[in-house]
Amino acid sequence: MSELRVLTGITTSGTPHLGNYVGAVRPAVRASLAPGVQSFYFLADYHALIKVGEPERIQQSTLEIAATWLAAGLDPERVTFYRQSDIPEIPELTWLLTCVTGKGVLNRAHAYKASVDKNNAAGNDPDADVTAGLFMYPVLMAADILMFKAHQVPVGRDQIQHIEMARDIAQSFNHLYGEQLVLPEALIEASVATLPGLDGRKMSKSYDNTIALFAPREHLRKQIAGIVTDSRAPGEAKSCEGSALFEIYQAFASEAETAALRQSFADGIAWGDAKQMLFERIDREVAPMRESYLAFMSNPGQLEDILQAGAAKARRLATPFMASLRQSVGLRKLGSQSAARSAKPAKASVASLKQYREKDGLFYFKLVDARGRLLLQSLSFESPRQAAEAIALLQSQGGAALPTISAQIQHIEGVSTEELVQALAQLA
Ligand code: TRP
Repeated sequence: MSELRVLTGITTSGTPHLGNYVGAVRPAVRASLAPGVQSFYFLADYHALIKVGEPERIQQSTLEIAATWLAAGLDPERVTFYRQSDIPEIPELTWLLTCVTGKGVLNRAHAYKASVDKNNAAGNDPDADVTAGLFMYPVLMAADILMFKAHQVPVGRDQIQHIEMARDIAQSFNHLYGEQLVLPEALIEASVATLPGLDGRKMSKSYDNTIALFAPREHLRKQIAGIVTDSRAPGEAKSCEGSALFEIYQAFASEAETAALRQSFADGIAWGDAKQMLFERIDREVAPMRESYLAFMSNPGQLEDILQAGAAKARRLATPFMASLRQSVGLRKLGSQSAARSAKPAKASVASLKQYREKDGLFYFKLVDARGRLLLQSLSFESPRQAAEAIALLQSQGGAALPTISAQIQHIEGVSTEELVQALAQLA
């Protein structure tokens, strides 16, 4: 698997709008056609549960988003297209990652901090109405990404911190259990437009200014009529700069078409006519997809089959990988020593401390390297407990414990202090 792996998730909490299409769906479908790229697209329905407490809406949104991506040309044969909740390995990995994630790191996540700040400003308990799901959001997202060893994750700017957290979490895991997780990178497409909404602010569900992607034709026309414009009369020159209408047009039109509209603006086109042009242009691109979308929507069973096939494809990677991750953290079948050894630990343990009893009846310990060379030899101890105490000190403090126990150890010729300290830092 030397191909570049690209992965992204879509939270199933709403109805796709034009902004989603221009900013995410269209570029992703195009990117998925590039040679040498293995793409993963999934419906992040576990994430949706964090924000949406309405079962019907979760199901409906999942249906709409799946239908949208397929109608927009995503080829499920070419990419891996699946639903997060069909992959039980994802919540399983989430727990392994949870156990290596600092709570303080999650405290600093933007979304969680925003909730806390809001509560503080309102004089509420800092965690009022904050679920553990919201708090854990970045870990679940890290599991999504790390499960499929994604190299690149195309996301909006608001998600960069989550990708950085996924990297940090992967690093912690690898440090502890060996290099197994691939460190992902956020991919921010500079060329992709953020679409303004009806009121000129960024098109977003939270501003309630969206234009539905697959609304019926007449509904689309009505919505477009509602885009804010200034009060310039027909015949007066209009400015393209800062015009939501112009920007939306540009996101759909060719350069020549855009230049023509720019000219019409300068010539004083009436806002009503400009809106009609925008409507026609969008509908030209959307109409064929709308037909396919409606066909999918009226046949959810077919969509379900596609998602099941996608899940099976995804799990062909997830299941064996999860099995090897379980091995590496020590969730093993008892008696499977050899399997356990096959996972290569990150900190190759090069030395070990051994306690033993000599024929003189006294207790000793020694430090040997991986090949059995003697690095440190203790003098005798009356009881095994005394020897164990010295060992514990070396284990917890490493080289720093050497002065404390200097009266109980013997220098070995040819072994430098530096070598000793290093070996103690890499104890088995
Ligand atoms: N948090 C992402 C968003 O709101 C959705 C998401 C969930 C995601 N898991 C992901 C994106 C993994 C990329 C990779 O947009």
